[in-house]
Amino acid sequence: MRVVGAFRESYGVEPAGVWHAPGRVNLIGEHTDYNDGFVLPFAVPWGVNAAVSPREDGVVRLWSLQAADEPVTLERLDAAQGWARYVAGVFWALREAGHRVGGADVVIDGDVPQGAGLSSSAALEVAVGTALNELYGLGMTKMEIALASQKAENDFVGMPCGIMDQAASALGEEGQALFLDCRSLGTRNIPFDLASLGLQLLIVNTGVHHSHAGGEYADRRRDCENAAAHLGVDALRDVTDLADALGRLSGDERRRTQHVVTENHRVEAVIGLLRAGKVEEIGALLNASHLSLRDQFEVSCAELDVAVESAIRGGARGSRMTGGGFGGSAIALVADDRVEAVRASVTGAYAERGWAAPEIYPAVPAAGARRLA
Ligand code: GLA
Repeated sequence: MRVVGAFRESYGVEPAGVWHAPGRVNLIGEHTDYNDGFVLPFAVPWGVNAAVSPREDGVVRLWSLQAADEPVTLERLDAAQGWARYVAGVFWALREAGHRVGGADVVIDGDVPQGAGLSSSAALEVAVGTALNELYGLGMTKMEIALASQKAENDFVGMPCGIMDQAASALGEEGQALFLDCRSLGTRNIPFDLASLGLQLLIVNTGVHHSHAGGEYADRRRDCENAAAHLGVDALRDVTDLADALGRLSGDERRRTQHVVTENHRVEAVIGLLRAGKVEEIGALLNASHLSLRDQFEVSCAELDVAVESAIRGGARGSRMTGGGFGGSAIALVADDRVEAVRASVTGAYAERGWAAPEIYPAVPAAGARRLA
């Protein structure tokens, strides 16, 4: 394994072990996680390998095969910069929670496609969290590792994300989508085997990431919290009478509420269809999710809209943006015999606009975080 060779080269010894954690795509349930709602992501075959050995002196040494710079030595966690903050944040969150976690020598090797919005940061956090849990004998559950990773991102890195990405990375299973109730943190595996039905889930990586994404994410989260406060509920998850709620709200709060409440319904409807074996029928719900994210939640962008519209024109059963939005990837549910037509339609639509060709590739549910060696 490449990461083991790199560890040996950087630190002159073998690592104590190698851990892997994957990125994710979200089938449906977008911007619902921080509203205590429902999500249905799955772990993808790409992720982060972390070769790790514990250190008794509390120091953290880090190197990434994807970063040009030399190994970083952190005597203090808050000295971390850039990508290293995600790793330092996990040490911080575990220590904050009262765990006795010393230092470590770490080498990272990741293959989550860059800028694809497939949660390379969650993969990094969960890989490191899983390694430290085992090396320091912390006895944490996978969900506890996901929560510590989310805390690292919220309170150390400063990105107010929900729990979806870290939970998918920690708990994903091969061939299964993960239904997660983000309030109770209850999970259920939902079999998601497309190959036997002659279907594929294509990822269309727009290759763009609009720089205002982080600020807009925090704004949307605030709109949702304000709307819940106006309605007198703990979270938008608790809205049971949508017509009544919409009558009491206006502007952005009204639009955000409409998205979140209907999106939770769509997650439940998709699960019903998947369990009934009616996979092809989820397409219309994927399309509706995209329109709601575009028009009510306002987190899409031209590149995502064109990907979705041209995929549908090319014959996709359904398509939507996936993840936070403002760039990243769309997904498209496509019958095997339409894959080339969808590919041509999307590539053609991008070429017409003078945009760089998006990468298009199928994704199947892969296993979540685990020790490799
Ligand atoms: C990002 C966040 C997640 C979730 C999605 C939107 O990926 O990290 O917690 O909120 O956006 O569904």
